[in-house]
Amino acid sequence: MKEKIDSLISAAKADVSACATVADIAAVKVRYLGKSGELTALLRGMKDVPADKKPEIGRYVNEARDVITALTGEKQKELEAAQTEARMLAESVDVTYSAHEGSLGSLHPCTLVKNEIVDIFTSLGFKVARGPEIELDFFNFQALNIPKDHPARDMQDTFYIGNDILLRTHTSPVQARTMMNEKPPIAIVVPGKVYRPDDDATHSPMFQQIEGLVVDKHITLCDLKGTLTLFARELFDKNTKTRFRPSYFPFTEPSVEVDVTCSQCHGKGCRLCHGTGWIEVLGAGVVNPKVLENCGIDPSEYSGYAFGMGIERITMIKYGIPDMRILFENDARFLKSFR
Ligand code: DAH
Repeated sequence: MKEKIDSLISAAKADVSACATVADIAAVKVRYLGKSGELTALLRGMKDVPADKKPEIGRYVNEARDVITALTGEKQKELEAAQTEARMLAESVDVTYSAHEGSLGSLHPCTLVKNEIVDIFTSLGFKVARGPEIELDFFNFQALNIPKDHPARDMQDTFYIGNDILLRTHTSPVQARTMMNEKPPIAIVVPGKVYRPDDDATHSPMFQQIEGLVVDKHITLCDLKGTLTLFARELFDKNTKTRFRPSYFPFTEPSVEVDVTCSQCHGKGCRLCHGTGWIEVLGAGVVNPKVLENCGIDPSEYSGYAFGMGIERITMIKYGIPDMRILFENDARFLKSFR
C-alpha cells in the first residue's frame, strides 16, 4: 500500500511539472483529487488493510493528499499569474503612440482678407452693417442718385428679378438703408456678396465688396484720404503710398479712385501693375448731398465720405494672384497654401 502511495505521489509530481496551462493543472487536480480520482480510489482500498495497520496507512494517505493538494495549488497559482501577465501584454495600449492626424480645413483667402479689412476698420471705430442681396431698385440705384434711365446704370450691368427687384450690383445700397434708419454720427463697413453679369479672368458674376460710410458734422475729403492711407498701410505694408485720382460716381461729389503702390514691386513697375508701379484698389468720394437728402439727412448740417472695394480684387493684389477664377475653383492644394 505504501509503495502504491509513493508511486502515486511521484506520478502526480511528474504530471504537475508537465502542466503548461491553467486548464492542464485543473485536469491534473481532477485526476488525482477528484471524486473518481486516483487518491480517492486508494482511500477506497483502505477497507482491505489489516485493522492494526489502518491508523498508520490512514495517516500516510492523508499526508499524500496534503502533498498533492499543495503541489497542484502552487502550480495553479503560478500558471494563473503567467496567464494574467500574458493577457496584459497582449491587450496593452501604447499611450506614447502618436494620434491620427485629421486633415484641418482653412479659411478661404478672400475670407482672410475680408476679416483683415473688417478688423482694420472696426479698430478705427467703424461698425459692421449688412443688407439683403436681393435688393430693391430704389436702394441699389435711385436713393444713390441713379434714377431710372440714367446713363450711369450702364456702369453696372444688372441681374433683374422683376421690374423693381434685382440682385444688388454693389454694397452701396446698405449706405442708403443705414442713413434712413440711423442718425449721424455714422461709421460703418459693409462686407457682402454682389452680382453682375460679367465673367472673365478679372470678373465673376458673383463677387464680394466692402463698403464704407462715415457721416458726421464737418467730414471732408481729408478725412477720407487720411483713413484710406492708414488702411492701405495696415493691409499691405507700412511703406505703401496712396494716390487719389479724380473720378466719377453718381453717389459722391467729388469722386476719386484710389491707387496704392504695387504690393509686388513696391512702385518699381512689374507685370502685376503693368509697369506703372501703381494699382487701383477702390472707388470713393464725398457723399453727394443729393444722396444725404434722399436718405433724410440734412446736407447743410452733415457731410460724409464713402468708399467701396472688391474683396477678390484686393486678395489678388495682396497675394499676386493673376486670374480671379482660381479663387472660385476651390482647388484644395491652392486653398491649403493659405493655412
Ligand atoms: N459702388 C461702387 C462700385 O461698385 C464702388 C464705390 C465707389 C462705392 C465710390 C462707394 C463710393 O461708396 O463712394 O463700383
